[in-house]
Amino acid sequence: MRLILLGPPGAGKGTQASVIVKEYNIPHISTGDIFRDNIKRDTELGKRAKEYMDKGLLVPDELVVSIVKDRIAEDDCRDGFLLDGFPRTINQGEALDAELEQMSLELDKVVNIDVGVEILIQRAIGRRVCRDCGATYHVEFSPPRTDGICDICNGELFQRDDDKVETVKRRIEVYNEQTEPLIDYYTKKGLVLNVDGTKPIDEIFEKISKSLMG
Ligand code: AP5
Ligand code: MG
Repeated sequence: MRLILLGPPGAGKGTQASVIVKEYNIPHISTGDIFRDNIKRDTELGKRAKEYMDKGLLVPDELVVSIVKDRIAEDDCRDGFLLDGFPRTINQGEALDAELEQMSLELDKVVNIDVGVEILIQRAIGRRVCRDCGATYHVEFSPPRTDGICDICNGELFQRDDDKVETVKRRIEVYNEQTEPLIDYYTKKGLVLNVDGTKPIDEIFEKISKSLMG
């Protein structure tokens, strides 16, 4: 199963990804998580990516594409993978297509999670993430049992640097300008499943899994 999760910041890509990859036993490839991991380890890539991420801008294509190409060529991706947050520009989409063609592989589905701007902002500013295991919570919509502590591993919950309201607004603008055109790009290829991202998490997952079965 080779899947892409498309949708604006805070739409619920990461939330759905974590359930889908468990169900289908495929690796979760989040370019945002890869960059955050590099920032944490203070690598050269992390330093370059941080300049863009803190401003709510996209990291340049040339830094992103090669990472994803290498990652999908790894052994654990042989039976499929889920891309979360990639591609994010038409240029990235075309690069992925070229790479898959070379590998004689095809995408199965592009899931487009649709959510309006006001809810996106609420979701992003209330999001909290576990420093240790990466589990995602929301102070209002899916709070942890104990404030600030991860239910799964007892790790500390923190707020992402780019989840400040002004940065979130910029990320949404950037999404509308540079990423949204990909919906049309993949619709023309007959790959898009549109889901209403304002529904409860398990309802959205049910809709996605039904479509993947059929
Ligand atoms: P990235 O990490 O990909 O962030 P994003 O696309 O902005 O998306 P988010 O992770 O903010 O949201 P999400 O859709 O995963 O929502 P989540 O499930 O957490 O990218 C960050 C940055 O890295 C970019 O700005 C860019 O700089 C760079 N970057 C990454 N990839 C790149 C690329 N390919 N090219 C260039 N640059 C790149 O949910 C959000 C909140 O809502 C959570 O609190 C959650 O609990 C809650 N929630 C989720 N679903 C529901 C629901 N159904 N009902 C109620 N609450 C819900
Ligand atoms: Mg995410």
